[in-house]
Amino acid sequence: MRKKIIAGNWKMNSDIDFGVDFLQKITQIQPPSGVEVILGVPFISIYELSKVSDFVSIAAQNCHQKESGAFTGEISVNMLKSAGASHVILGHSERRQYFNEFDELILEKMSIALKAGLKVIYCCGEPLDQREAETHEAFVKSQLSDSILKLSEDQMKQVVIAYEPIWAIGTGKTASSSQAQDMHAFIRHLVKEEFGQSVGEELTILYGGSVKPANSEELFAQPDVDGGLVGGASLKTESFQQIIQSMKPV
Ligand code: PGA
Repeated sequence: MRKKIIAGNWKMNSDIDFGVDFLQKITQIQPPSGVEVILGVPFISIYELSKVSDFVSIAAQNCHQKESGAFTGEISVNMLKSAGASHVILGHSERRQYFNEFDELILEKMSIALKAGLKVIYCCGEPLDQREAETHEAFVKSQLSDSILKLSEDQMKQVVIAYEPIWAIGTGKTASSSQAQDMHAFIRHLVKEEFGQSVGEELTILYGGSVKPANSEELFAQPDVDGGLVGGASLKTESFQQIIQSMKPV
């Protein structure tokens, strides 16, 4: 049975006090059974927040591709692990756009994160011009071919994919449930082709891009949408809670 996940991505928002308060509130209501909740928080909050809740796992939003060394200002996977992170978000479109991250580098980061025992939430997704030109599948396929499709089968089993069309991130524009479903089915098909039927069936694929209480239930009802990666709406306890509760128990 594939895992259902609601993950928040706080990006460069929140401080430690905000995070502790948020988690204490979120923790008062249990998620539907079988639904895992993960929060991607700023590095400085990981240690404190990983101690607050029994059921909310903490993700980092980036890591360096080397184990250690003279890389002033960077953070290693072992540091994240020792601070209490269980996951790391890699390949987010903001990292690709503002920090020139590309799939070969993201593959290096994934490999070192998986080696350290962190699970990876790998983000992919097309910009608006690719969607308009109807080349979005080819675009996402090339992202996957240069990164996760090069992992070993054992590594792949520790990866969650988040499909996040760039034109839907932070814009208030959401992909329709059928656009999300079509791309998720396509991604699952590619993973099955590379790793076999059962790895593809077990793969959790999240949708990200302006997920909010008003659209989450319909998105999550799609057969290949196994949850969400939520930005803006994960910063408000009420809306994040509503999004979690809109998942069907498994
Ligand atoms: P959004 O962000 O929900 O604010 O669109 C999603 C993301 O960037 O992961």
